[in-house]
Amino acid sequence: MSEPHSRTVVVLAAGEGKRMKSSLPKVLHPLLGRTLVGHVLTAAGPLTAARTLVVVGHGADQVRDHLAAIAPEATAVLQAEQLGTGHAVRIALEAAPEVTGTVVVLNGDVPLLRPETVAELVAAHESEGAAATVLAAEVPDPTGLGRIVRDGAGRLEQIVEQRDATPVQLAVREINAGIYAFDAARLRDVLGKLSTDNDQGEEYLTDVFKMLVSAGEPVGVHLAGDHTETLGCNDRVELAALRRLLRDRVNERWMRAGVSLLDPETTWIDVTVALDRDAVVDQNTQLRGGSVVGSGAVVGPDVTLIDTVVGPGATILRSHAVGAEVGPDASVGPYAYLRPDARLAERSKVGTFVEVKNSELGAGAKVPHLSYVGDATIGARANIGAATIFVNYDGVNKHRTVVGEAAFVGCDTSLIAPVEVGAGAYVAAGSAISNDVPPGALGVTRAPQRNVEGWVARKRPDTASAAAAERAQRGTQGAPAPTSSASEGEAIHGTAASVGGTPGAGDTATE
Ligand code: UD1
Ligand code: CA
Repeated sequence: MSEPHSRTVVVLAAGEGKRMKSSLPKVLHPLLGRTLVGHVLTAAGPLTAARTLVVVGHGADQVRDHLAAIAPEATAVLQAEQLGTGHAVRIALEAAPEVTGTVVVLNGDVPLLRPETVAELVAAHESEGAAATVLAAEVPDPTGLGRIVRDGAGRLEQIVEQRDATPVQLAVREINAGIYAFDAARLRDVLGKLSTDNDQGEEYLTDVFKMLVSAGEPVGVHLAGDHTETLGCNDRVELAALRRLLRDRVNERWMRAGVSLLDPETTWIDVTVALDRDAVVDQNTQLRGGSVVGSGAVVGPDVTLIDTVVGPGATILRSHAVGAEVGPDASVGPYAYLRPDARLAERSKVGTFVEVKNSELGAGAKVPHLSYVGDATIGARANIGAATIFVNYDGVNKHRTVVGEAAFVGCDTSLIAPVEVGAGAYVAAGSAISNDVPPGALGVTRAPQRNVEGWVARKRPDTASAAAAERAQRGTQGAPAPTSSASEGEAIHGTAASVGGTPGAGDTATE
């Protein structure tokens, strides 16, 4: 066993990525939960490098800000002009003269690389005592990539870029992944001697291999088992292809871990998401950021969760949630919108066309239909009737509403914050509540109902309504109704309308 090597990671991330046609630097494009450069840094994680240097150039400030957020231990090194991959590594090592041992260079645009693969490359390099080792792959279509050129004995001779290659070299399907391990001292030696004598007039890092070979230094090739890991991202078509590959990899991992994905092709799970065994994800579902789905929960179809935690046994159907918490066995949707700090306790329900923001629902509380719940605390087992609006904003400030345990809020109610509905209190349907309702009281703000008899016959004669009214009146006087469409239920409902604004339970809420 040799001494543990000191390791330095250098990530090349200064290029513009012209073919992305984007104002966002290429390495900052997102891919299932991380940026391209974020994926590359993650792949290098297990190397436990003493230093991480990221060469930045195009969009340097943006890339620096991103690094500060995701990898504060990394040092950004500015490559003001992008004069090639060799130049980029030279600048990085000049900025870190103390670096010795193994230098691992990673292209910032190769995001599918697995940590195990980088670790294997570095282990092979270090155990061979090589001056340089390149990660290679056999690919079906090598177009655009550097080719691994071997001599008659199969030893690496040089790496040739597509544009500088001979027809024979172009036929080679073994390519350079843009991932390397170098011995720092021997790399420094040759980096200073790189020429720009190539089709692009750049300092190619790949030329280091040819130079080390002719100096008699040992160089190695480490072949990646899965060539898709080495795919780079140069335009948005390639980015989409990488996204599909990563989706499949992530989905396969979760299925093997005991998660049911009913339609993996339309299920997009960020690499940062966690799912428990027996979670079920139905089709057209995106799980993003720090989302977590508990055991036995059913999410989808048609759900997007961003940074949302779903408890065991919960159901979320055709809904969008951001920064929310859904408790065990809670039910959400169809067509619900949970916004940041919507917190739903166990067995609570947020139903159809309901929006919840910065609010807590207690255990078993229900908001089943057509409501806006903003800045509220709703007690356990409270029932919020259809079309209740928590009026939280006075045009300047936001205010909170508190609804007590087992309170019952009738349909089409406005709760005008700040206001409190006490435990076990009722609110009559159609009320606008701006004063507290004490526990156990009925809050009601409705005007008494007034019926103007015969109004339709006088003001809307000769209409379908007038004719229907006339038939109905004849019917109640004992004459047979000419059509059978007016059911008994409707007639009963019409006569049962409450008088004087005192509601019965039947007209305060919905289930
Ligand atoms: C490079 C390799 C090629 C390999 C391919 C794998 C060279 C000369 N060629 O080609 O053999 O098959 O990667 O994907 O190295 N960068 C800088 N500064 C620069 C130039 C590039 O930081 O001055 C960065 C880019 O941002 C990118 C990476 O280096 O992240 C690779 O550069 P790119 O221009 O994409 O190289 P390729 O032409 O793809
Ligand atoms: Ca590239």
